[in-house]
Amino acid sequence: MLIRNKRSWELPERIATSESVFLNRRALLAGGAGLVASAAMAPHAQAFSLFGESKVYGAPEDDPSTKLYPFKRNEAYKLDRDLTPEGFNFTYNNYYEFGSSKNIAEAAQALKIRPWTVKFDGMVEEEREVDVDTLLSAMPLEERLYRHRCVEAWSMTIPWCGFPLAALIDYAKPLSSAKYVRMETFMNPAVAPGQKTGSFGYPWPYVEGLTIEEATNDLAFIATGAYGKPLPKQMGSPLRLATPWKYGFKSIKGIVKFTFTNERPVSFWEEINAREYGFWANVNPKVPHPRWSQAEERVLGTRDTVPTQLFNGYGEQVASLYPDTDERTYFM
Ligand code: MTE
Repeated sequence: MLIRNKRSWELPERIATSESVFLNRRALLAGGAGLVASAAMAPHAQAFSLFGESKVYGAPEDDPSTKLYPFKRNEAYKLDRDLTPEGFNFTYNNYYEFGSSKNIAEAAQALKIRPWTVKFDGMVEEEREVDVDTLLSAMPLEERLYRHRCVEAWSMTIPWCGFPLAALIDYAKPLSSAKYVRMETFMNPAVAPGQKTGSFGYPWPYVEGLTIEEATNDLAFIATGAYGKPLPKQMGSPLRLATPWKYGFKSIKGIVKFTFTNERPVSFWEEINAREYGFWANVNPKVPHPRWSQAEERVLGTRDTVPTQLFNGYGEQVASLYPDTDERTYFM
């Protein structure tokens, strides 16, 4: 997510170097094809940091949900490429609450993830607040392999653990007249320095929204873990959204509230710059970002640049939500 003019997908030299050193080292160790997938799945593999020798922060040690993992994989969700090694996903993050660089993992460790309550309000049968472990115990837990495409023209693949957003919507019991679900991130400037007034002047807390049709589509997923373990804090623990047909900024992290409403929510980045980061944000190679092309994407963890796919390759599941694909607003 960039507001400044530097083209964000051009990785700084030091990161590009670490990446290629990493790939060469693994190639030597593993001797060839399939190494990325196997490295990603090895449960206790030494994760690699994109930021040199700095510590890699994985699943929080005190997360009481650890015992629930790993979740059974839902084989309906397959990938067309290797999994990204966990060290990339654990160290290259956007979480502006903790800073505007990608290297925020250490800062994110300040976030306390228990106790953590989730509120359901607005157009619901009954407003309520539930603690996250009670919510987890009521959800159908599974693992899914998803692509993840950032608006900044880089991509990764991730084995998410979690549950369908549709199951959470059922649990929340919205009124049938509700048209949207608005999601909100925690607000605590004492632990998240980015939220301090004046640090970026952004409209905290982070907010995202989906139509009810989008939110109840099979693909919309709430992630509580990744790589067979609870989510690292920097990836949005204890709850974050994964909508793989949309640009990554829709995937709100650290969610504390789901509000059902009739009015289209104004999302965080939309409020900052609607021309560049709209409400719909569906991936489309033919609709450039005002400042760069979306035709291709850099696949992090590899040396590949590949063509971007309409709806990030998930058109079969979601295209019917957007009947008019000439309508540019769906892709902004
Ligand atoms: N959620 C919150 N609360 N704050 C953020 O800054 N960044 C978004 C999204 N969710 C963000 C957020 C952006 S721009 C992206 S690309 C993804 O998180 C990054 O997810 P990742 O760090 O797991 O790759």
